[in-house]
Amino acid sequence: MTIKIGLLGFGTVASGIPFLLTENGEKIEAAAHSDLEIAKVLVKDDDEKNRLLAAGNNYNFVTNVDEILGDADIDIVVELMGRIEPARTFITKALEAGKNVVSANKDLIATHGKELISLAQDKGVAFYYEAAVAGGIPILRTLANSLTSDKVTRILGVLNGTSNFMMTKMVDEGWTYEAALKTAQELGYAESDPTNDVEGIDAAYKAVILSQFGFGMTIDFDDVAHKGISNITPDDVTVAQELGYVIKLVGDVQEVASGLSAEVSPTFLPKEHPLASVNGVMNAVFVESIGIGESMYYGPGAGQKPTATSVVADIVRIARRLNDGNIGKPFNEFSRPTQLAQPDDIKAKYYFALSVPDRKGQILRLAEIFNAEDVSFEQVLQQKANGTTARVVIITHELSKTQLANITEKLQAQVDFDLLNSFKVLGE
Ligand SMILES: NC(=O)c1ccc[n+]([C@@H]2O[C@H](COP(=O)([O-])OP(=O)(O)OC[C@H]3O[C@@H](n4cnc5c(N)ncnc54)[C@H](OP(=O)(O)O)[C@@H]3O)[C@@H](O)[C@H]2O)c1
Repeated sequence: MTIKIGLLGFGTVASGIPFLLTENGEKIEAAAHSDLEIAKVLVKDDDEKNRLLAAGNNYNFVTNVDEILGDADIDIVVELMGRIEPARTFITKALEAGKNVVSANKDLIATHGKELISLAQDKGVAFYYEAAVAGGIPILRTLANSLTSDKVTRILGVLNGTSNFMMTKMVDEGWTYEAALKTAQELGYAESDPTNDVEGIDAAYKAVILSQFGFGMTIDFDDVAHKGISNITPDDVTVAQELGYVIKLVGDVQEVASGLSAEVSPTFLPKEHPLASVNGVMNAVFVESIGIGESMYYGPGAGQKPTATSVVADIVRIARRLNDGNIGKPFNEFSRPTQLAQPDDIKAKYYFALSVPDRKGQILRLAEIFNAEDVSFEQVLQQKANGTTARVVIITHELSKTQLANITEKLQAQVDFDLLNSFKVLGE
């Protein structure tokens, strides 16, 4: 049996698929119980079609999506165009036409996944998207299949390679945020508009998807608080190192007594935490669960071949199910009512960096503000007193989101205090 594939888009990831089908054909055919054939490829226009043909890509390139969606012989549509539209419309039409769909589009799945998953269920077809989280790391299928017997309590992840590359340069080589961003752009890791990567938006999309697979809860993108790395200063990086921490942008999804909490924020990781040594463009997902305990899944979060490997794994799984006659099972079968955690119930230690007047009694004023919220200090450092201002760093004991909001408000209300930064601190 030959399973025919229609590709939507032929950019970085899609053009990596033929490599795997050729170089690993025997194993793929054995796993899929069929031959896989790229029957048609959608490109934007004739210029692109001619360019690709001239470059030796011998495919049936089409410029009208209906040539794929209306082709009864095509079983699997693989969307690798990115962005929301027209990807959302094309996937919807493909599912409505009874086609199975594979995508790597985290932006779309995090914001419109609910409707697409539900449509796939109604139509009895597959909608798989392993590559949407951490590119080459097979984390979604691991959570959905290998960890079915285990109860996941927390997922922490270094989920954005661009920001991790930048943070690694800032931490290991003392670069400024601006220098790290410039190099990331020169190396092609960051786009000309880097907002999604550096402001934690891309990682928040992945946290939405991890919430489904790890905890069975479908949360909205707006339920993921996200803060990026653009405000981190060399002073923050240095003091973190002095205190035994590494700062990274971390996605954190955890179930507490009142429900699920999901956020992305710069986080002080103890140097000995496995995520602290995930450097450069690499990704890692650290899972805490009641059975295995702690496990970490590490690998390339992006790149042509790693991402195409995850995409082809989805294609193979669909082909196998088509052969076995059990297509239509959801990618993730674990689903339960969504319940978000209460702010009083989400707790962590925090780092505060402040600029205060360089005169007596300022630490006492700070202690009074924190004490009024019933929060105590774990460590206090006074740095860089210059006769006018002093930089004070505080690491607290655990406090809740409610206490964090109250303390932040009170600190900001002090006219002679400047709250420079506050970050979550992981650890006992
Ligand atoms: N690259 C990675 O490492 C990676 C990792 C994980 C997930 N992903 C996801 O994988 C998807 C593809 O990423 P990519 O890096 O391969 O992107 P890409 O290199 O930009 O490729 C996308 C291709 O689709 C084409 N395209 C866009 N709209 C189209 C339309 N309406 N009709 C036909 N073709 C269209 C684009 O053409 P133009 O260039 O002319 O617009 C481009 O050639 C995205 O959802 C991305 O988030 C990528």
